[in-house]
Amino acid sequence: MQGNSRPVTSTQAAVHRDLARLLARHVAHPFRKPVAEYSRTAFAALLAVWNERQPLVLDAACGTGESTLLLAGQNPEALVVGVDQSARRLARGRSLAGAFRNVILLRADMVDVWLLMAERGMRPAAQYLLYPNPWPKPAQVMRRWPAHPIFPTVIGLGGRIECRTNWRIYAEEFAQAVATLTGAAVGVEKFQPARPLTPFERKYGATGHALYRVAAPAQARPPC
Ligand SMILES: C[S@@+](CC[C@H](N)C(=O)[O-])C[C@H]1O[C@@H](n2cnc3c(N)ncnc32)[C@H](O)[C@@H]1O
Repeated sequence: MQGNSRPVTSTQAAVHRDLARLLARHVAHPFRKPVAEYSRTAFAALLAVWNERQPLVLDAACGTGESTLLLAGQNPEALVVGVDQSARRLARGRSLAGAFRNVILLRADMVDVWLLMAERGMRPAAQYLLYPNPWPKPAQVMRRWPAHPIFPTVIGLGGRIECRTNWRIYAEEFAQAVATLTGAAVGVEKFQPARPLTPFERKYGATGHALYRVAAPAQARPPC
């Protein structure tokens, strides 16, 4: 990927005006949906390799899994789980994952994986949401993770959480949603990675996009 990606454009100039209302509604009505069979199969593969005492690091919507492998190198004590719905993207990481003992790459719907983790009371040590699809039209707000009905479940799992994006408003919405759900002060940081963690980070960096990060430490007791 070379440096010619377009910045995110949107008619939205600030945090979506419905975000607070949506979050309150999602908290009041916990999200339920039938879990897809392919996600259940992938989750069973995770349970088959996970030693329950091992910390879990989740790379949500990991694309090719490049970040999953880098995170595995940085967290040798953890099982690092990369999840993406695209078999084509995952194939790239899978061709390299054999060199790591602490990585599993799963083709699954991330929403299903979060639901299944919550159902089993699993508590990841850390979750990464790296360059999620921005869905920049105001009407698409509920497709963005911070306004998605699954988000209280994501935060309820606990652990450190980090989101990176090249759209400042996405980062602000993410920070606001985490702060609302945890009661913690959460800010947006503009940053430049020393080394790209993901293909999208590399592409945006090569184009000169500003990059934003929201990182919230593990909460002692998530309220939801
Ligand atoms: C913009 S790409 C970013 C990929 C990677 N994190 C990176 O930074 O290079 C967004 C990824 O999210 C994945 N994705 C979107 N919705 C998903 C879902 N519900 N479950 C699993 N993967 C999803 C897509 O397949 C795609 O690979």
